[in-house]
Amino acid sequence: MASFHSFFTVIIISHVFIPSYFSPIHGNTDVGFMINLIRKTSAQAFPVRGLSAMSETPQSPVGANLGHYLMELSIGTPPFKIYGIADTGSDLIWTQCLPCNNCYNQLNPMFDPIKSSSYSNVSCDSNLCHQLDTGVCSPQKQCNYTYAYASASITQGVLAQETVTLTSTTGTSVLLKGVVFGCGHDNKGGFNDHETGIIGLGGGPMSFISQMGASFGGKRFSQCLVPFHTDVNVYSRMSFGKGSEVSGEGVVSTPLVIKDDKTPYFVTLLGISVGNTYLHYNGSSENVEKGNMFLDSGTPPTILPTQLYDRVVAEVKNQVAMEPTVDDPDLGSQLCYRTKNNLRGPMLTVHFEGANVTLEPIQTLISPKDDVFCLGFTNTSSDVGIYGNFAQSNYLIGFDLEAQVVSFKPTDCTKNT
Ligand SMILES: *[C@@H]1O[C@H](CO)[C@@H](O)[C@H](O)[C@H]1NC(C)=O
Ligand SMILES: *[C@@H]1O[C@H](CO)[C@@H](O)[C@H](O)[C@H]1NC(C)=O
Ligand SMILES: *[C@@H]1O[C@H](CO)[C@@H](O)[C@H](O)[C@H]1NC(C)=O
Ligand SMILES: *[C@@H]1O[C@H](CO)[C@@H](O)[C@H](O)[C@H]1NC(C)=O
Ligand SMILES: *[C@@H]1O[C@H](CO)[C@@H](O)[C@H](O)[C@H]1NC(C)=O
Repeated sequence: MASFHSFFTVIIISHVFIPSYFSPIHGNTDVGFMINLIRKTSAQAFPVRGLSAMSETPQSPVGANLGHYLMELSIGTPPFKIYGIADTGSDLIWTQCLPCNNCYNQLNPMFDPIKSSSYSNVSCDSNLCHQLDTGVCSPQKQCNYTYAYASASITQGVLAQETVTLTSTTGTSVLLKGVVFGCGHDNKGGFNDHETGIIGLGGGPMSFISQMGASFGGKRFSQCLVPFHTDVNVYSRMSFGKGSEVSGEGVVSTPLVIKDDKTPYFVTLLGISVGNTYLHYNGSSENVEKGNMFLDSGTPPTILPTQLYDRVVAEVKNQVAMEPTVDDPDLGSQLCYRTKNNLRGPMLTVHFEGANVTLEPIQTLISPKDDVFCLGFTNTSSDVGIYGNFAQSNYLIGFDLEAQVVSFKPTDCTKNT
């Protein structure tokens, strides 16, 4: 999910204002850890295998509930479980909080600050409040925040600090103290009732990643997301700090592009090949702007500027030996095929600067419902695209914020090792 301010505002405050309070329970801050990411479908909204969840996706970046990867973590003392969307496209960590003025339906109990002994409100005089450009002072001197997403989802509430507990894949608990988060009292948008909020993993000062800093042996993390079609009981993985390096055979890397807006992880896309046909990013010139795309784990489809998108769609049509279905507004994608067999689609190669990333049909042709496959791409009038989570799946993707590179390693993420 892209946060609104990632499009419109400039963050000029560096993360040095936030001390890294995070400390592993075993006291060794040089050791990284790995967690599972889970997916849950809403039993109410999507009774049939949850796949109809996709139907709106190509138009609305948050439409695909099954297209979200959730981080399970506990906040407070005693620990209370929350499930936030893992989102590299935004910064704020937030969860729905009692008392709820206006919340979306949530199946799990809601976090109640009164019941936690480690909860504290962030004062509006604090630097932490000014890190958020939308933080305002309430009459009680609290830091009231508003955080909006490009998809029109929005959360409002008070900024607070809590102890966060994560369970690593080895079973150990990782305890993080003083984590700044939004206690959301007023939240709406395209969330399903298993999702209690969002865990912002972007590059801006408030994100989980920035708050973590180098506490775990280096400012880096990696993710391995299972493809969309995978059984929801199969976990995806996310690693933090030492041990999250992506290396070895088949690894390709592209530079992170640093811009004024620190939230998105910008990279440079040179072009996309459909089969052997190369389509340059900039239809009208050899020039490409550096940082013309960012990686967003909270957005399912890949979103391209219309001039490139149109050429990709035309070329995919050209190479699939089958007639597309006529426009079905139900499907939300502009290019879908109806077939009882597996659709034989072309391989796509995403040419990032210095890194060619090959995508198989499982990463590009998404099945929103039985016997239908749609291109998991959509378009924007912006010059800056989004590399979404369908395309990120089945790659171990490392974000090394010290070396400022993103690395891709083809990996079967369903085989967790
Ligand atoms: C935080 O602010 C809320 C709203 O004003 C208040 O009810 C609550 O007591 C405060 N919590 C703490 C721990 O100060
Ligand atoms: C601050 O947030 C609280 C709780 O959400 C709300 O009751 C209050 O009206 C807000 N105050 C301002 C100034 O926005
Ligand atoms: C395409 O190239 C032109 C001419 O150099 C440039 O003005 C424009 O910004 C480029 N567009 C993109 C999307 O990179
Ligand atoms: C990446 O793809 C481009 C375009 O097909 C090609 O020219 C280039 O040699 C490839 N680079 C690598 C490292 O394979
Ligand atoms: C997306 O592409 C379609 C078809 O090319 C076009 O009609 C529409 O205006 C484009 N939308 C945006 C936001 O550019």
